[in-house]
Amino acid sequence: MAVEGKASILNNPGEPAVVEEILVDSPGPNEVLIKLSASGVCHTDLTVKNLNGNGMSFPIVLGHEGAGIVQEVGEGVTHLAPGDPVVIAYRAPCEQCPACRRGDPRHCYMALRPQQRIHRKRDGALCSQVLRCGTFSTHTVVHAKAAIKMPKEMPLDKACLIACGVITGVGATMNTTPVFAGSRVAVIGCGGVGLSVIQGAKLQHARQIIAVDVNPVKLDWAKKFGATHVVNAKEVDPVVEVRRITEDGWDGGVEYAFEATGIPMCTEQAVKMLSYGGTATTIGFPAAHDSVTLNLGDMATGVYWNKAGLNVCHCGDALPSHDFPLLAQLYLEGQLDLDGMVTRKIALEDVEDAFHEMETGDVIRSVIVF
Ligand SMILES: NC(=O)c1ccc[n+]([C@@H]2O[C@H](COP(=O)([O-])OP(=O)(O)OC[C@H]3O[C@@H](n4cnc5c(N)ncnc54)[C@H](O)[C@@H]3O)[C@@H](O)[C@H]2O)c1
Ligand SMILES: [Zn+2]
Ligand SMILES: [Zn+2]
Repeated sequence: MAVEGKASILNNPGEPAVVEEILVDSPGPNEVLIKLSASGVCHTDLTVKNLNGNGMSFPIVLGHEGAGIVQEVGEGVTHLAPGDPVVIAYRAPCEQCPACRRGDPRHCYMALRPQQRIHRKRDGALCSQVLRCGTFSTHTVVHAKAAIKMPKEMPLDKACLIACGVITGVGATMNTTPVFAGSRVAVIGCGGVGLSVIQGAKLQHARQIIAVDVNPVKLDWAKKFGATHVVNAKEVDPVVEVRRITEDGWDGGVEYAFEATGIPMCTEQAVKMLSYGGTATTIGFPAAHDSVTLNLGDMATGVYWNKAGLNVCHCGDALPSHDFPLLAQLYLEGQLDLDGMVTRKIALEDVEDAFHEMETGDVIRSVIVF
């Protein structure tokens, strides 16, 4: 039987997100119905709105950083039961693509896809769910293998952050571009993702962690999360400043630079601030027309002579069934700070306000608590 609920929905391109009544179908085979407890608001939700759905059909249920309680399991689901606390993974390996078939699920080409099960109540229209999740909703249906069980003592209003921002940032330093102990790391952009990169670099025992942002409040927070140095990119050229901080008689530079802004120029900066043989990692979500220009031949910073590498991070190259419980454990042991990342707790009705705060205010994560 369909369950009644509410969701924050984009009904048409260019319109704000509004709360609508929904009907959610029962889960099909290998699916689970989840009653959401909390959902973080990630910059990607705002980007989906700003890019008019980014290819998804309207109406769209926003949200992909969710945690909740399993309410009903579909046929064939044996590893979960009603009442289980879970975090929703938007990139659970598909088990069919070439990467999964060769035993490399962290590089899965796609993700497990459930049927769309959320309808707008007033006309029955079937809704798209952002990144197959749709967590700005009282209820959602996801693939059972995308629902990752949490320890009972894990607070779900913190656990939700693991689903995207935290696994993306921490995973970038552990999986996408493993940071070695004693290395120098720069992080451009200190929002929810960038601060998680900083936490990951600290867990990996980086020697120097240089935070770059244009907002001094974000830079203060970056120090609390483990940055050893901060650079305000509004006041100085971050490439010059990072090279100055890391000067070692060999032109300085960091072994690893992570871009977490979604601004193409920042990926160029990340490449330019590398030491010889270093690796830049781009994390921000690009628009279709975004491009970067990388110099090859400059003797000091050119990609060829500096032997620079460029990686792309999708969701921290996560293996959710392994990584999410690990991050929960690190939180419970006091090694991963999730409490400090929840700047505001908000209601489902406040999504547009959260978007506004994200663009203009001093917020790491707004978390919708149901
Ligand atoms: N690849 C992935 O899997 C993945 C996952 C999650 C988010 N994302 C993307 O990562 C990016 C960051 O997400 P978020 O939720 O942390 O966003 P956010 O809005 O919380 O943080 C962005 C930060 O960048 C800073 N910034 C803006 N302009 C800057 C500049 N010129 N130089 C330095 N810093 C600057 C802002 O002040 C802010 O602190 C977004 O593009 C988001 O869509 C990608
Ligand atoms: Zn796959
Ligand atoms: Zn996200």
